[in-house]
Amino acid sequence: AEVVILESKAAAGALVADEIVRLIDEVKNPVLGLATGSTPLPVYQALRERLTGHDVSHVRGFALDEYVGLDAAHPESYRSVITREVIEPLGLDPDLIRVPNGDLETIRHAGDDYERDIIEAGGVDIQLLGIGTDGHIGFNEPGSSFASTTRLKTLTEQTREDNARFFDSLDEVPRHCITQGLGTILRARHLVLLAFGESKADAVAAALEGPVSAILPASAVQLHPHVTVVLDEAAASKLA
Ligand code: F6R
Repeated sequence: AEVVILESKAAAGALVADEIVRLIDEVKNPVLGLATGSTPLPVYQALRERLTGHDVSHVRGFALDEYVGLDAAHPESYRSVITREVIEPLGLDPDLIRVPNGDLETIRHAGDDYERDIIEAGGVDIQLLGIGTDGHIGFNEPGSSFASTTRLKTLTEQTREDNARFFDSLDEVPRHCITQGLGTILRARHLVLLAFGESKADAVAAALEGPVSAILPASAVQLHPHVTVVLDEAAASKLA
């Protein structure tokens, strides 16, 4: 992987946003792989200024994951977050931006439906990734298969605690999710893994320099031929 260490989140956001703008301007059917959580926000922020005046009507996007057991209208559903942070501020066509469907009634086929939609769109060009303190990417928690596709998963207690800051209490954090698999993520043409802050340093070092192991799902990026890792000093502090 190419590892870039920058002095600020804003600099990281700008670097990645420039790459995305190039894709949108140059490719006929650009497909973005979107992430939620705190990490990609500087990218979305930087895209606001950069995409002003650019044609974005053809941009497709697929989010990594969604909570299960949370109403899609809840402000912290990833559908709501993607609408608020990506679709509305960047002026994207909501019909072209997909988030896995976390409804319980359709969950049995939601994963396969999502896989089919990604393939029909031509696959993801640039996949944004954050990393969990337990080494997850998407919500592929430790033990996830490297061949996995979009499916129902259980969140670890560590992830629920990490994400409790978005909810009124830990009790409100959903216990299940639907997430792209590691196999799905590895099919994207370019992976861009971002991490900021000391709390990510161990997971980043293990992912990039440790053994490739399902115990540390983010280590799957070592199997991909085109990975860019964008870190701040703190997140990079445990690298050799
Ligand atoms: C979000 C996702 C997760 C997060 C990870 C880090 O779509 O798939 O893997 O990227 O939990 O979360 P933050 O960025 O909030 O530290």
